[in-house]
Amino acid sequence: MTAATEKTHGSPEAAKDPAAPVFAVRDLWKVFGPKADRIPGNKEYAALSGAELRERTGCTAAVRDVSFEVKRGEVFVVMGLSGSGKSTLVRTLTRLIEPTSGTIAIDGEDVLAMDKNRLRELRRRQTAMVFQNFGLLPHRSVLDNVAYGLEIQGMGKAERRAKALQIVEKVGLQGLEERRPTQLSGGQQQRVGLARALAVDPEVLLFDEPFSALDPLIRRDMQEEVVRLHREEGRTMVFITHDLSEALRLGDRIMLMRDGGVVQLGTPEEIVANPADEYVRDFVRDVPREQVISVRRAMRPADSDEAESGAALAPDTLVVDAIEAVARSGEHCRVVENGRTLGVVDHSRLLAVVAGIDEGPDTTDTEGKEVAAV
Ligand SMILES: Nc1ncnc2c1ncn2[C@@H]1O[C@H](COP(=O)(O)OP(=O)(O)OP(=O)(O)O)[C@@H](O)[C@H]1O
Ligand SMILES: [Mg+2]
Repeated sequence: MTAATEKTHGSPEAAKDPAAPVFAVRDLWKVFGPKADRIPGNKEYAALSGAELRERTGCTAAVRDVSFEVKRGEVFVVMGLSGSGKSTLVRTLTRLIEPTSGTIAIDGEDVLAMDKNRLRELRRRQTAMVFQNFGLLPHRSVLDNVAYGLEIQGMGKAERRAKALQIVEKVGLQGLEERRPTQLSGGQQQRVGLARALAVDPEVLLFDEPFSALDPLIRRDMQEEVVRLHREEGRTMVFITHDLSEALRLGDRIMLMRDGGVVQLGTPEEIVANPADEYVRDFVRDVPREQVISVRRAMRPADSDEAESGAALAPDTLVVDAIEAVARSGEHCRVVENGRTLGVVDHSRLLAVVAGIDEGPDTTDTEGKEVAAV
């Protein structure tokens, strides 16, 4: 869709199928400890909790039989509590940590079959990481930090500084090019980290809790920066966080991990409206549902006299916006797609969402999806 997705990003194979996933991960395990190979696929061990496994075998299954795909152009969020395996997972994607078993492909290419040179290419050009602790070079200026990735790619000085200048502007650091990292605030330092990653024009940006060291306001700023970059460039991102509101704000889809395994993978709306288990339910308990759930999920079938009247809303309108529309008009609104009325929302439907009340039998998730699919 954009320059970022059309380019080959330094990898030898040409134009990529936009529908093909960027990353495809299957049955991935990373086990730390003695004789780690014996753990994946062993049914007896699979039944044990992380603590039991550690006690029995001395091994930690940091990533436990995980499968997922990262679609081209999406922000794929990995969320979970401390120790749930997020960093291990993202590092195995470029084999900064070698997986114990399973498969990983990027653009259909087997990452586990890559030789040293190809791996270097993968880490330097095709992907770029942004870390929590910024990872900047203290004795270099902002500009030279941003240009660093281009330098190790072998780009000449004038060219890389020109490129770095553009990126510095893009992330709002103009005027600070000659400062050292220690002369910057935390938020500014992380902008340098982000700029350095963007400078190499990677196919995928990998973020490992990049904003968790920042105070809330700066953090919000940086999140908006990521949203903006994503909107403007359509770049694929894997974003790790343990912060639910960050995950909801940024994620097209969220994968929730616990104890190395995947508990749920879905859109923010799916996760909030339909938590897979008690653990997820607990996680999303305090989320303002009206800001995540859309009228497609909240609507009920229209009565015969309702289908022709009432303001029209698109199916992905958030409940919070529908509340305003319904309050304004004083009557129900129709949910309309391609000129067809899919259903209606009224005061009671919208309030039920806010209150987190399980909607009646005619509006279960399954039915909502069926209606939507017609
Ligand atoms: N090199 C290692 N050797 C042994 N165990 C490890 C190693 N690295 C990580 N672990 C263990 O693997 C599990 C997952 O760790 P990981 O760093 O991936 O978690 P995380 O979700 O990123 O946590 P955090 O939010 O604190 O960064 C933890 O139990 C951790 O102790
Ligand atoms: Mg981590």
